[in-house]
Amino acid sequence: MKTEMKKVYLDNMATTPVSPEVRSVMLPFLTENFGNPSCLHEWGDIPRDAIELARGQVSSLIGGNPEEIIFTASGTESNNTAIKGLAMAQQKKGKHIIVSAIEHFSVLNSAKTLEKWGFEYTTVPVDKYGVVNPEDVRKASAMIRYWFPSCMPTGKWAQ
Ligand SMILES: Cc1ncc(COP(=O)(O)O)c(C=O)c1O
Repeated sequence: MKTEMKKVYLDNMATTPVSPEVRSVMLPFLTENFGNPSCLHEWGDIPRDAIELARGQVSSLIGGNPEEIIFTASGTESNNTAIKGLAMAQQKKGKHIIVSAIEHFSVLNSAKTLEKWGFEYTTVPVDKYGVVNPEDVRKASAMIRYWFPSCMPTGKWAQ
């Protein structure tokens, strides 16, 4: 007798099914209201209004101003924008970046690109649980300027 194995999807960080509420809100924009929100013609009006509404809602939810909310198409785009953007904007304060050895490639490759642009970066190892040793951070921090941790207990290190 063949037993069916139950499959469990564990990659929701990469992609996840949308909830029925999200699907019903999004559906009009995938069918009749599909214009480019950045365009000058009227096809963009409804999508643009919806994006500005969402921007306001997100900013009220997490704090800050609507104009500080930037929507991206992916985690890779977000990581590139945040890391390179912050590093370039703050480069007068220093040009050294610390990343952990288990960062996603979008983080590691952003650090490597910054190296080509004249920044230095240090990679700190992780233990068998995937956690960075604070002592390694402290050593690397002798020159620290920017630190891009993934899921590290940074609050604990600060104490
Ligand atoms: C921790 C982490 N960062 C970044 C990404 C990249 O996200 P995306 O595939 O949306 O570019 C992933 C994707 O799985 C991820 O798991």
